[in-house]
Amino acid sequence: MRLHLLNVALGGVLLMGGLASAQDASLVTLGDPSLTAGIPGVGLLTNDELDRWLSDGDNHLELQVTLPEGLSAASGNLYIPDDNAMTRAKIELGRQLYFDKRLSSDNTVSCASCHDPMLGYGAETAFGVGVRGQQGGRNSPISYNRILSRAQFWDGRADSLEAQAVGPIANPIEMGNTHEASVKTVSSISGYRKQFDVIFEDGVNIDNIGKAIATFERALVTGPMGYDAYDAVARFEKQFAEDLEYLDEEPELKAKYTELKAKTEIYPMSDSARRGMVLFFNKAKCAACHAGANFTDEQYHNLGVGMQSSKPDLGRFDVTKEDKDRGAFKTPTLRNVALSPPYMHDGSQQTLEEVIDWYDKGGHRNEWLSDKMKPLNLTDQEKVDLLGFMVEGLTGEFPYVIQSRLPPTIAADEKVVQ
Ligand code: HEC
Ligand code: HEC
Repeated sequence: MRLHLLNVALGGVLLMGGLASAQDASLVTLGDPSLTAGIPGVGLLTNDELDRWLSDGDNHLELQVTLPEGLSAASGNLYIPDDNAMTRAKIELGRQLYFDKRLSSDNTVSCASCHDPMLGYGAETAFGVGVRGQQGGRNSPISYNRILSRAQFWDGRADSLEAQAVGPIANPIEMGNTHEASVKTVSSISGYRKQFDVIFEDGVNIDNIGKAIATFERALVTGPMGYDAYDAVARFEKQFAEDLEYLDEEPELKAKYTELKAKTEIYPMSDSARRGMVLFFNKAKCAACHAGANFTDEQYHNLGVGMQSSKPDLGRFDVTKEDKDRGAFKTPTLRNVALSPPYMHDGSQQTLEEVIDWYDKGGHRNEWLSDKMKPLNLTDQEKVDLLGFMVEGLTGEFPYVIQSRLPPTIAADEKVVQ
């Protein structure tokens, strides 16, 4: 009898635990490796593995996402369109498509060819190199922290990641395909068909390909870094300036302070990098445009890059036709910027040292130069410090993303009708 009661009690506890975890399954911090590590297993995906994955209800829960520490200060800018909720299954489908060269006309180019995780989600060439070695006229920007921006591209001409994602597939010098042909290819792969049929009401079509890829990109966010740790301490010290002397009398506050300080040891910055941080926000005025937790004001500015050319790329002007936008480009994020040279919309600057020199001289003079661009008169040491800040203070971890685990053209466990 007692045993029975105990069982009931345990059952009750277990049941409650189960309910709580079903609810928790929809709460996730982006960057969590379980979102982008692929369907468990190794090698090409089998239909059996896909069936099991798709039959797990947790993979279809609408995720309530939060941002990693540091980036989370930008949570107000988080943007997920109403008609494209994030689910684990959709992130995973988008991941497969992102790395799949079969979306290009000759099976040689994927999104990752120009936005390569091993190259800071950019490419090492000045311009994006697409099918048959063709080159465009702009540098491949990074494809992470995009969940914080609506307008995409250097000139902001796409107003959502969904709209952006289907562009390269049909761009003759990028993936060189047509939307019809890519939809046909994806539909012909049973592993993809299965996923689209379960995840979307209307199966495989180009909009849904865009939605899946955009959802994967939203899961690509940068983790905490030196700046985040030092900034949290600085903000605490400012907020509790009067209490700092008496922390021993305020155990909770003291514990918080100790915790924040400990983070600066996990993400250390040298003295030089810390001086660089002060320069960044003061004398060098970088934060006038690289503002907020994602280090961008999401605005367009003319720094004079490429303006010495007789036919310069007019950037934002081609979208708005407003004179003030001539030669203006979108301020890029500086999180993890050290990982993705070369720099600027035309890839014309090879190193961060070159970028610093560009700002130091006030950019390249031209009629539309931003009035925020002024010579900075930095000393050699200040330039070193600013570089130190960008390298040590602004580099955090990327989420773990598996690049293999794609559905094969013919699944190993698929019956082929001869
Ligand atoms: C041939 C190289 C190439 C390929 C392939 C390619 N891209 Fe790009 N991508 C670029 C270039 C270059 C730009 C900038 C173009 C511009 O601003 O006009 C860009 C821009 C972007 C942006 C905008 C980023 C921002 O900060 O505004 C995103 C997101 C992106 N690409 C994702 C993708 C996805 C997803 C795919 C696959 C469907 C893809 N790209 C395929 C080169 C490429
Ligand atoms: C007037 C606004 C503005 C100010 C001030 C500014 N930036 Fe920028 N930054 C931009 C824009 C816009 C771009 C892209 C310009 C282009 O490609 O034509 C850019 C590009 C960069 C890049 C290249 C990023 C990439 O992915 O290619 C780095 C690095 C950078 N800025 C660092 C700095 C630093 C360091 C400072 C301070 C010394 C600074 N910026 C000040 C607006 C600004």
